[in-house]
Amino acid sequence: MGIDGDLLKRYTMATWGYKQGEMVSLMIHLGVRLGLYQVLDGAGPVTSGDLAATTGLHERWLREWLRAQGAAELLVTEDGETFELEREAAMVLAREDTPTYAAGVFSHLRDPRVADGLAEAFQTGLGLTYDGQGEGSEQHVEAMLAPMARALLVPSVIPALDGVVDRLSAGVKVVDVGCGTGLAIELLAAAWPNCTFEGYDVSERAVLVARDRFDGVDNVAVHLAGGEDVPPTADVDLMMTLDCLHDMPRPDLAMGAIRQAIAPDGTWLVKEIKSSPDWSGNLKNPMLAMMYSTSVASCMSSAMSSADGLGLGTLGMNPAVLESMVTEAGFTRFAMHDFDDPTNLYYEVRP
Ligand SMILES: C[S@@+](CC[C@H](N)C(=O)[O-])C[C@H]1O[C@@H](n2cnc3c(N)ncnc32)[C@H](O)[C@@H]1O
Repeated sequence: MGIDGDLLKRYTMATWGYKQGEMVSLMIHLGVRLGLYQVLDGAGPVTSGDLAATTGLHERWLREWLRAQGAAELLVTEDGETFELEREAAMVLAREDTPTYAAGVFSHLRDPRVADGLAEAFQTGLGLTYDGQGEGSEQHVEAMLAPMARALLVPSVIPALDGVVDRLSAGVKVVDVGCGTGLAIELLAAAWPNCTFEGYDVSERAVLVARDRFDGVDNVAVHLAGGEDVPPTADVDLMMTLDCLHDMPRPDLAMGAIRQAIAPDGTWLVKEIKSSPDWSGNLKNPMLAMMYSTSVASCMSSAMSSADGLGLGTLGMNPAVLESMVTEAGFTRFAMHDFDDPTNLYYEVRP
């Protein structure tokens, strides 16, 4: 059988394309770390000499970095000498306060030793918890999720939940399960300071960051405990699980505990990755390869970190799975909300 040259070329380009992505990622990391995108934002066309003069960095290094950015089509250049960061590029690479800001994700470089743990997981079946995924993984999660959370959670998502703003304004109990570093609690606490907030997470590092964040704040407590350990108080007015059920080894147990903790007229806000039970449905996602790779490296890994883990993973909690699981856990009302968030769906679940 002869070799199909075109196909060979396609696989070659696809494979090296991923290597190119790795190297460009390192360049974006350096750009973030050295503050270069911020300097370029609004500066118009600049040369490496201009950039060296503004930053005090070495001209020859900047020239090569700028050319790498031009080649990656993140900066505009016609001659490889003068480069411009367009306004739209700045919204992705420089402006931390825009929902489209993505460069923060590149500040964290994955510890190469994490691959040892993942290779072992393929033998044992047991995945790595978030704490096992390398120093700074909790900061990486926040960098990835914060721009959209800041843009949507308080302005759009909470107001869409039936009657919840009135209750929060009156001052009620809010529990964030899988709270990570506590960003959602911080956003809600700023908007509704009369409420009391509790966070639960199994990541020691994330809980440390969250506790630091709320040091001296009376109405926030963060527990190092899983969703399955939330006590059966039947008094939580707003329960939240944001981007975390699919990471839990036993989301079914967490849902059971949440059912016992929520007030009879309480609301449970679930944020989960947009996904479909069918492969073909997921193909609409232009970042599907990144999503499945993130699942192996992070979400499914966490969801397989105990021997009885269900292992849902990044794309495993689609609307049908979620609805059936929450119904099984004893919830009777389920509504889906689709905001201007390309990655996530939001659900309003009630007893
Ligand atoms: C993708 S992060 C989301 C964090 C946060 N909710 C946010 O939106 O930024 C998933 C979190 O789920 C946590 N997690 C995993 N298993 C858990 C469990 N059984 N109970 C509570 N949290 C868990 C992880 O430690 C991690 O902090």
